[in-house]
Amino acid sequence: MADIIKATPLAEILERYPAARRVLDRHGLHGCGGERGPAETLEFFARVHGVDAETLLAEIRAERPTPAPIPYESTIADYIYRRFFKAGIAVVLTVGALWGAVNLLEIALRRNFLLLQLVPAIHAHAHAMIFGWCGLFVMGFAYQSFPRFKHTTLWRPNLANLTFYLMLTGISARIGAELLAPEALGLVLGGIASALELAAIGLFVAIILKTARKSVEPHNPYEKFIFASFAWFLVQAILSDVFFFAKATAASQEELIQRIALLDGPLRDIQLLGFVAMIIAGVSQRFIPVVYQLGRPKRDRQTPIFWLMNSSLILGVCSYILTLMTGKALFLLGLETSFILMLTWAVLLVRQLGVFTTPGERDRSWKFVRAAYVWLLIAMVMLPLFPVYGILTHQYFAHSFMGAYRHAFTVGFVTLMIMGVAARVVPILAGIDSHRLSTLWWPFILINIGNAGRVVLQILTDFVPRIAYPLVGVTGFLEVTAITWWGIELWRVMNASQARRAAAVMVPPRVLVS
Ligand code: HEM
Repeated sequence: MADIIKATPLAEILERYPAARRVLDRHGLHGCGGERGPAETLEFFARVHGVDAETLLAEIRAERPTPAPIPYESTIADYIYRRFFKAGIAVVLTVGALWGAVNLLEIALRRNFLLLQLVPAIHAHAHAMIFGWCGLFVMGFAYQSFPRFKHTTLWRPNLANLTFYLMLTGISARIGAELLAPEALGLVLGGIASALELAAIGLFVAIILKTARKSVEPHNPYEKFIFASFAWFLVQAILSDVFFFAKATAASQEELIQRIALLDGPLRDIQLLGFVAMIIAGVSQRFIPVVYQLGRPKRDRQTPIFWLMNSSLILGVCSYILTLMTGKALFLLGLETSFILMLTWAVLLVRQLGVFTTPGERDRSWKFVRAAYVWLLIAMVMLPLFPVYGILTHQYFAHSFMGAYRHAFTVGFVTLMIMGVAARVVPILAGIDSHRLSTLWWPFILINIGNAGRVVLQILTDFVPRIAYPLVGVTGFLEVTAITWWGIELWRVMNASQARRAAAVMVPPRVLVS
């Protein structure tokens, strides 16, 4: 084994020295890259799994060779992520982004962002995006990566599989419920959706906690972001149900508008800044510096970032509700303070990750990750300007500005991040060299143009509605085209690994490599 060096691809090591699988499994390989193993080098594996490359080399060299190849058997824990990612793509391309684009077109044609009759469709879209797009990707990624990061195996993979069906059925029921409420069938569907989604998320959190307990690895500081995100995941699911039933039981249109005004903002903040931003911050700190070789942060600011994220969210939610209920200026001050704190954590996080320094290693996903953080900064700079914009344009609640901020965050930051991380991780899991795949430049360009167009034009609808409305109606379809392009490519990569797994049952591994 002396000829193995740090630059040797894992697939080559496993092909020539099958006994190395035992060592690599101990450090978290477990089915990653399938039968053949990932195309990445030993050095990359060591970096990402937090092992010293020299130690790993020594362990592999010391491992006793096996006379016959170690039989490779994949379990559901090895490929469970695929069904979550595929369902996430299916959701985003139907009731998610596509429906959002259709809603936006209707808004553009009627030149009004405040159409009450569109509220059920927009809320159904928002639900599909948070639970189906973000939720399914987070769950799939967590089931796949968390055990490997913790050098252990997933607790109860079959239960994890059940959460997939619970979540998907729950999302479908909720979409029907949003459209049918306040009719009785809508309320029944809402109740079913609530039970299924809460069960799915509750079980998901329990499975990850049990998996963490199985690990003998010491607790890592980034994990507090992950667990806080999961706590917010549960909180938002409960609040989302409260929101649904509050809307469905409103006695009049005025009461409906009042309830939406009170609950919608806090719910969206908890979903986006609690659940989604927190998981991205946690995964980013674990993943980005090591994958792209950005070096260690000069000053580790994990703890202040963590507390700023949580406290600014709680302050923002409380201040918003109290402002609306009392009308007192003091609480407006609290809201503005929370916005400034949110901008602060975003700046600290970007500096901590070093995403604007030169990466030691890059591939097609890097541009998505870096652009996602540019969009995070844009969105967070917009937040403290929200009240200023309202005063300047004489609006009590500047809906166009808030909508533009939200889109900068949900598509610019969140969606680009999902696209980037998936474009990096899925080929590794499939055992395919990402440098041989599409560069994804077109989806990247289209989604950025669509997103920039939406953010700028939605604000411009306040000033030049005749020009801005028709143009903003097109931006959604640019984004949908981008996500479709990326989604088809990702789906193909996942299918390629599936096909190879099926072939591996019949073909000896040596033939597969040649
Ligand atoms: C990709 C293309 C997308 C399009 C065309 C789109 C379209 C829309 C439209 C037209 C609205 C109403 C805007 C307003 O009233 O200001 C909206 C709201 C919303 N969207 Fe999207 N969206 C997209 C992506 C996303 C993503 C990726 C997420 C989540 C990660 C998301 C979550 C939301 C949320 C939370 C709302 C607010 C709903 C509310 O008012 O309570 N959207 N979207």
